[in-house]
Amino acid sequence: MRHIRRSSVLNLFLLALCIGLAGATASAGGKDSPVRSPQDKQDSNATPQAKEGDKTSAYAGAETCKTCHEDLYNAWEKTPHWKTTLDTRGGPSHQGCEGCHGAGLAHTQNPGDATLIFDFKKASAKAINDRCMTCHASGKEQMDFGRSEHSHSNVSCTDCHSPHHATTDQFLLVKAQPQLCYTCHLSQKPQFEMPFHHRVDEGLVQCTDCHNPHGTIAPKQVRTSAAQDAACFKCHADKRGPFVFEHEPVKVEGCASCHTPHGSPNAHLLKVSNVNILCLSCHTASFANAPGAPSFHNQAAQFQACTLCHTQIHGSNFDHFFFK
Ligand code: HEC
Ligand code: HEC
Ligand code: HEC
Ligand code: HEC
Ligand code: HEC
Ligand code: HEC
Ligand code: HEC
Ligand code: HEC
Ligand code: HEC
Ligand code: HEC
Repeated sequence: MRHIRRSSVLNLFLLALCIGLAGATASAGGKDSPVRSPQDKQDSNATPQAKEGDKTSAYAGAETCKTCHEDLYNAWEKTPHWKTTLDTRGGPSHQGCEGCHGAGLAHTQNPGDATLIFDFKKASAKAINDRCMTCHASGKEQMDFGRSEHSHSNVSCTDCHSPHHATTDQFLLVKAQPQLCYTCHLSQKPQFEMPFHHRVDEGLVQCTDCHNPHGTIAPKQVRTSAAQDAACFKCHADKRGPFVFEHEPVKVEGCASCHTPHGSPNAHLLKVSNVNILCLSCHTASFANAPGAPSFHNQAAQFQACTLCHTQIHGSNFDHFFFK
C-alpha cells in the first residue's frame, strides 16, 4: 500500500516538474527557440516564410487550428484562401491558416500567450501589407501597391479586406463599394450627388472602374488600360480615336481638361457652365497653342453654343474644324 502511495506522490511530483519545465521553456522561448518570437514577427518586416534555419515542425497545419477554431475554419474553407492548402510548392509557410498567421505550433501548445501568434488587429499597416504581399505581390492588380497613396498613408489591406468577416460575396471586402470608399473619402460623396454625375451610388459605375485602390503608375491611382490609355476609354470607346483630325487637348491634357470625372452642376460633366467659356479659355488670341476663334465669331447668341457647329469636339475623321 505504502509504496504505491509513494510512487503516486512521485508521479505527481514528476508531473508538476514537467509542467513547470514546460512553462519555463515557453516563457524563456523567443531568442533561441526555433519559433521566431512574435515580437520580431510583428515589429520587423518579417514575412511568414520560414527563414533558412526554421524547422517546418514549427507549423501545426490548418487541421490542428480547426480543433479549437472550428467556426473560423469552417467559414474560411469556403473562401478562396482555402486553395492554399492544395498548393504545396511554398511549403507550410504558404499554406492554410499559417500562410497568414505565421508558424503556429507554439501557439497551439500555449494558446493563453497572445504573443505567440501573429495578430492582425494589433499589427502595423506595414507589417500587414508585407504579409499579404508575400503571396499577392505578383498580382497584376496589386503590384503597384507600394507606390499607392494608400500605402503611403498607412492604409492596409485589412482596412478594405477581411479574410474572415467579409460582407461581400466576391473579393472578401469589409463593405461593398461605394460605401467602403466613402468611409474614408467623405468629401467625394457630395460630388456623386450633383445634378450630373457618373452613377456610382446607383451601382452603374464603380469607383474601381476608374481607380485601382492598389495603386497605379498614373497620378490619383487612376487606372490606365493595357495600352496606357485613359480609364475613360473602357466605357467611352468612341472617344478613343485615332482620328484623322485630333482635337489636341483630348489627346494631350486628357478628358479632365474639359470634364470633371465625378460629378458636376453642368450638363455633360463640363467644368464650366457655358461651353463658350470653356472653349474660349484656350481659343483666344493670347493663348499660345490654340488658334483664336475667328473674328466673325462675335459672341452674340449664334456663336455661343460652339458645339452646335463644331459637333465632333473629341476628334473627327472628316473635318479639320470638327463640323462632322
Ligand atoms: C488548443 C487550442 C488552440 C489551437 C489548436 C489553436 N488555437 Fe488559436 N487561440 C486559442 C485560444 C484559447 C485563443 C484565445 C482566444 C481569445 O482570446 O478569444 C486563440 C487565439 C488565436 C488568435 C487571436 C490572437 C488574439 O490575440 O486575438 C489567432 C490569430 C489564432 N488563435 C490563430 C490560430 C492558428 C493559426 C492556429 C493553428 C496554427 C491556432 N490558433 C490553433 C486556442 C487555440
Ligand atoms: C488570408 C490571410 C488569413 C488566413 C489564411 C487566415 N487568417 Fe485569421 N485573420 C486574418 C486577419 C486579417 C484577421 C483579422 C480579422 C479580419 O480582418 O478578418 C484574422 C483574425 C483571426 C483570429 C482572431 C479572431 C477573429 O475572428 O478575428 C483568429 C482566431 C484567426 N484569425 C484564426 C485563423 C484560423 C484558425 C485560420 C485558418 C482556418 C486563419 N485564421 C486563416 C488573416 C488570415
Ligand atoms: C482602399 C481599399 C483597398 C485596399 C487598401 C486593398 N484592396 Fe484589394 N481590393 C479592393 C477592392 C474594392 C477590390 C475589388 C476589385 C475591383 O472591384 O476592381 C479589391 C480586390 C482585390 C483582389 C482580387 C482582385 C484581383 O484581381 O486581384 C485581391 C487579390 C486583393 N484585392 C488583394 C489586396 C491586397 C493583398 C492588399 C494589400 C496589399 C489590398 N488588396 C489592399 C480594395 C482594396
Ligand atoms: C499564402 C498565400 C496568401 C497570403 C499570405 C494571402 N493570400 Fe490572398 N489569396 C491567395 C490565393 C491563393 C488566392 C486565390 C486566388 C485564386 O482564386 O486564383 C487569394 C485570393 C485573395 C483575394 C480574392 C478573393 C476573391 O474573392 O477573389 C483577396 C481579396 C485576398 N486574397 C486578399 C488577401 C489579404 C488581404 C491578405 C492578407 C491579410 C492575403 N490575401 C494573404 C493567397 C494568399
Ligand atoms: C481606411 C481608409 C480608406 C479607405 C477605406 C479608402 N481610402 Fe482611398 N485614401 C485613403 C487615404 C488616407 C488616402 C491618402 C490621402 C488622401 O489623398 O486623402 C487615400 C487616397 C486615395 C486616392 C488618391 C488621392 C490622391 O490625391 O492621390 C484615391 C483615388 C483613393 N484613395 C480612392 C479610393 C477608393 C476608390 C476606395 C474604395 C475602393 C478607397 N480609396 C478607400 C484612405 C482610404
Ligand atoms: C468616371 C471615372 C471615376 C470614377 C467612377 C471615380 N473617380 Fe475618382 N477620380 C477620377 C479621376 C480621373 C480623378 C483625377 C482628377 C484630376 O486629376 O483632376 C479622380 C480623383 C479622385 C480623388 C483625388 C481627389 C480629387 O477629387 O481629385 C479621390 C480621392 C477619388 N477620385 C476618389 C473616388 C471615389 C471614392 C470614387 C467612388 C465613390 C471615385 N473616385 C470614382 C475618376 C473617377
Ligand atoms: C464603367 C464605365 C465608365 C467609365 C470607366 C467612365 N464612364 Fe463616363 N459615363 C458612363 C456612363 C454609363 C455614362 C452615362 C451617363 C449616365 O449615367 O446616365 C457616362 C457619362 C459620361 C459623361 C456625360 C455624358 C452626358 O451626355 O451627360 C461624360 C462627360 C463622361 N461620362 C466622361 C467620362 C470620363 C472623363 C471618364 C474617365 C475619367 C469616364 N467617363 C469613365 C460610364 C463610364
Ligand atoms: C476640349 C474639351 C473636351 C475634352 C478634352 C473632352 N471633352 Fe467630352 N465633351 C466636351 C463637350 C464640350 C461636350 C458636350 C458636347 C455637346 O454639347 O454636344 C462633351 C461631351 C462628352 C460626352 C457626352 C456626349 C457624347 O459625345 O457622348 C462624353 C461621354 C464625353 N464628352 C467624354 C469625353 C471623354 C471620355 C474624354 C477624354 C477622352 C473627353 N470627353 C474629352 C468637351 C471635351
Ligand atoms: C485646353 C485647351 C482647349 C480647349 C478647352 C478647347 N480647345 Fe480647341 N484646340 C486646342 C488646341 C491646342 C488645338 C490645336 C491647334 C492646332 O492643331 O494647331 C485646338 C483645335 C481646335 C479647332 C481646330 C482649329 C484648326 O485650325 O485646326 C477647333 C475648331 C477647336 N479647337 C474648337 C474648340 C471648341 C469648339 C472648344 C470648346 C468645346 C475647344 N476647342 C476647346 C485647345 C483647346
Ligand atoms: C454657327 C456655327 C459656328 C459656331 C456656333 C461656332 N463656330 Fe467656330 N467656326 C465656324 C466656322 C464656319 C469656322 C471657319 C471654318 C473655316 O475657316 O473654313 C469656324 C472656325 C473656328 C476655329 C478655327 C480658327 C482657325 O483659325 O483655325 C476655332 C478655333 C473656332 N471656330 C472656335 C469656336 C468657338 C470657341 C466657338 C464658341 C465660342 C465657336 N467656334 C462657335 C462656325 C461656328
